[in-house]
Amino acid sequence: MSVSALPPAIEFIGIDKRFGAVHANRDIDLAIEAGTIHGLVGENGAGKSTLMSILYGFYAADRGEIRLHGRKTTIRSSADAIRQGIGMVHQQFMLVETMSVLENVLLGAEGSPRLAPAEARARAVLRQLADDYELTIDPDALVADLSVGEQQRVEILKTLFRGAEILILDEPTAVLTPAEAAHLFRILRRLAQEGKTILLITHKLKEIMAITDRVSVMRAGEIVAEFETAETSVERLAEAMVGRRVLLEVEKGPSVPGAVLLEVEAVDLRDKRGVSVLDRVSLEVRAGEIVGIAGVAGNGQSELIEAIAGIRRPTSGRITVCGRDVVGLGPDEVREAGLAHIPEDRHRMGLVLDFSAEENMLLGHEDDPAWAHGLLLDRSAIRRAAMTAFDDFDIRPDDPTLRAALFSGGNQQKIVVAREVARTPRVLLVGQPTRGVDIGAIEAIHRRLIALRDQGHAILLVSAELDEIRSLSDRVLAMCQGRITGECRPDVGETEIGLMMAGVAPEGVRA
Ligand SMILES: Nc1ncnc2c1ncn2[C@@H]1O[C@H](COP(=O)(O)OP(=O)(O)OP(=O)(O)O)[C@@H](O)[C@H]1O
Ligand SMILES: [Mg+2]
Repeated sequence: MSVSALPPAIEFIGIDKRFGAVHANRDIDLAIEAGTIHGLVGENGAGKSTLMSILYGFYAADRGEIRLHGRKTTIRSSADAIRQGIGMVHQQFMLVETMSVLENVLLGAEGSPRLAPAEARARAVLRQLADDYELTIDPDALVADLSVGEQQRVEILKTLFRGAEILILDEPTAVLTPAEAAHLFRILRRLAQEGKTILLITHKLKEIMAITDRVSVMRAGEIVAEFETAETSVERLAEAMVGRRVLLEVEKGPSVPGAVLLEVEAVDLRDKRGVSVLDRVSLEVRAGEIVGIAGVAGNGQSELIEAIAGIRRPTSGRITVCGRDVVGLGPDEVREAGLAHIPEDRHRMGLVLDFSAEENMLLGHEDDPAWAHGLLLDRSAIRRAAMTAFDDFDIRPDDPTLRAALFSGGNQQKIVVAREVARTPRVLLVGQPTRGVDIGAIEAIHRRLIALRDQGHAILLVSAELDEIRSLSDRVLAMCQGRITGECRPDVGETEIGLMMAGVAPEGVRA
């Protein structure tokens, strides 16, 4: 570590925070040097977002102090944090979709956004920032029309426009394509070189290894380890996080495929504007196999899953689930035909945040004979089922009566996964099952999916993580611009799969 005479950019000293019975941050001491990228890793619910929210003035710590550049400070609100040069890019973006990029950047900044001089100055600064940091973006574009990666750039621009010297990013790559993530990292390096201090939360340990200078590991509210990145490894970080060795490879035997349980034949789908999003997609998934769809996000994978699940109606083509034609049926009827669906966007489709965890586990299954007796619900049967799921998936805190909103991001995801696999459906659609989930829980979810496969269920998996597709799937299909562009075994090289994802089928690969 470089010996520097300057005080650290940020110091947390004895920071402590409880939410009721949950001790989210325990006596945290942490110092971060200016001009470095510091990683923060830890299991779901370890307290990472809480600590960053305290720095950003969103929560007040119960005890402890924060020093910026050696000076003790009190951060009373996010506006206060911004004034002190702290910016945060949240897990969920906080942009106003119906406003332009420029309006969003000006929102909440000093002065009125409608004043012409402010606007002219903002345009000039935006152009400058775009040139300096490759953050190119049209100031007049509507946020609703931007890709997720572009929206994130607006969030970063917003913080830089307000003069942030300290930038907090909470799982910034969870929703990015690999190319967008690489671009983000180039920007972060550049910012650090200029002396800005970056705090990065991520579950992707490879990213920690690739981009950070130092990394701290949190477990159950405490900092349990800290490393120079150059002196650690993915394995050591995983072990420090979970407190035991973690199996980074998926263990599975060969598949024994049986009857076709899901069949998609020449399905076309057009969006509201009449643009083709699925183009004669055909595939089948047999009992006892996992078929993975590899593809850069936005190439029709989400629409395919939604068409099969009865959320969108195909323009033409046939879909059969366990031998039953399901085109035109609604989601509940498709579920009755034997299908379960882990949606990729858990906030939009998977959870009702104001309902308790156990009520969420009931969603779509209110009529299950295990607890529905006539018009009455058997509350204790529901509680028992929820407790079992909480145990199986190690969902924390261990209380199914808490509102879903109060669980950390990864634990919310585990609630959705637990609900959908509990019914052991014949056909399971799985979208981004481990997005935002820690490495120990990834291991548990992967094991469960393999177990379902081995019991004879048919699984269709969509994931932006190529590693996940390759380690879980028995067969891999690539998708590009709404078409299936190739099929291969999961053990072919990443380059070949990459080419298929780009719509090119290389020699020797069945397309
Ligand atoms: N507003 C809140 N009210 C009650 N409990 C909360 C609140 N915010 C967080 N918690 C709890 O505090 C603990 C720490 O949560 P936090 O969101 O900091 O975890 P995290 O490390 O960011 O996890 P993840 O990786 O899943 O995002 C969790 O047990 C969570 O359920
Ligand atoms: Mg978090």
